[in-house]
Amino acid sequence: MLNSLHNTINLHMMGGRDTIALTFIPAAITFEHVVKSFSIKGELTPTLNGISGSVPKGNIVSLIGPSGSGKSTLLALCNLLLTADSGDVLIEGKNVLEWNITELRRNVGLVFQSPTMFPGTVLHNLSLAQTLQGSTLENPESYLTKVGLPTNLLHRDASDLSGGQKQRVALARVLATKPSILLLDEITSALDPSAARDVEEWVLQIHKDHQTTILWVTHNLEQAERVSQWTWFMAGGQLVEATETKQFFSTPQTKEGMLFLSGQ
Ligand SMILES: Nc1ncnc2c1ncn2[C@@H]1O[C@H](COP(=O)(O)OP(=O)(O)O)[C@@H](O)[C@H]1O
Ligand SMILES: [Mg+2]
Repeated sequence: MLNSLHNTINLHMMGGRDTIALTFIPAAITFEHVVKSFSIKGELTPTLNGISGSVPKGNIVSLIGPSGSGKSTLLALCNLLLTADSGDVLIEGKNVLEWNITELRRNVGLVFQSPTMFPGTVLHNLSLAQTLQGSTLENPESYLTKVGLPTNLLHRDASDLSGGQKQRVALARVLATKPSILLLDEITSALDPSAARDVEEWVLQIHKDHQTTILWVTHNLEQAERVSQWTWFMAGGQLVEATETKQFFSTPQTKEGMLFLSGQ
C-alpha cells in the first residue's frame, strides 16, 4: 500500500496492441522513517512516529486525519520550518538539509489557513520575496490573474480585501516565487463555502497550468476526494493509509480509515 507510492509506475496499455508503455514518475517529496517529537509539559512526546511515503511529481496528495495527528508538522519539515529528529525528508531527490534554504523556500511554497497580509498594498504583498532579495517582481498583474483576481486590486490596501481575496493574494504571493511544490495547510477552512470553492478552483487551475506538485492538508473530505489523486490518512503521528483517492473513499484499506470516513 505505502509501497505503491514509492517509485510510482503507471502502466498504460497501448490501443489494443500488446505494447505496454512504462512511465516512471519521480518523487517530488519523500519521507523516510521521519520522527519528530516535541517537549510537552517537560515530556518528549512523539508527534511523527516513523513516517515514510512519497508524493509523485506533478500529483496532488490530500493529507487528512484528526486534529493533532501531525499533518501541519509534516508540512513544516518540507521547507525547514522544522527539522526531523531522525529520518530524512527529500525534496526533488535532495535531502532538505542539503538545500540552500532560500532556494528551498522559493521552490516549496507554503500557504496557511489564515492568510497573513503585510502592511501596504496588494503589490507590496505580492512582491515581498523579490523586495527582500533586492529585485523586482516582473508582471505582478499576471499573478493576480492566475488566482482570478482583477488587476485593478494591485494598488489597493491589502487589509481592505475580503478573506477569500486575501487567501488568493497569499496564494499569488507564493506563486510569484515560481514554486514547483505547493504545501497547502487547510487553506479554505476559514472561508465561506463560495470563497472556499473559488480558492479550490484556482488551485486546480494552477496545478493544471504548471503541473505543480501539491501536498494539501484539508479537513474537508469532499474536497480531498475532489482534488487529489492520492489520499494520505494520518492518525496518531503515523501514516496509516496512503491510497489512491478513489479507492480510499470507496473502500479504505484500513479499519482506522473506515472509521474516520464514517465520522467515528
Ligand atoms: N511547536 C510545537 N511545540 C510543541 N508541540 C507541538 C508543536 N507543534 C506541534 N506540536 C504537537 O504536535 C501535535 C500535532 O500537531 P499538528 O502537526 O499541528 O497536527 P495537525 O496539523 O494534524 O492538527 C499537536 O497536538 C501538538 O501537541
Ligand atoms: Mg494542522
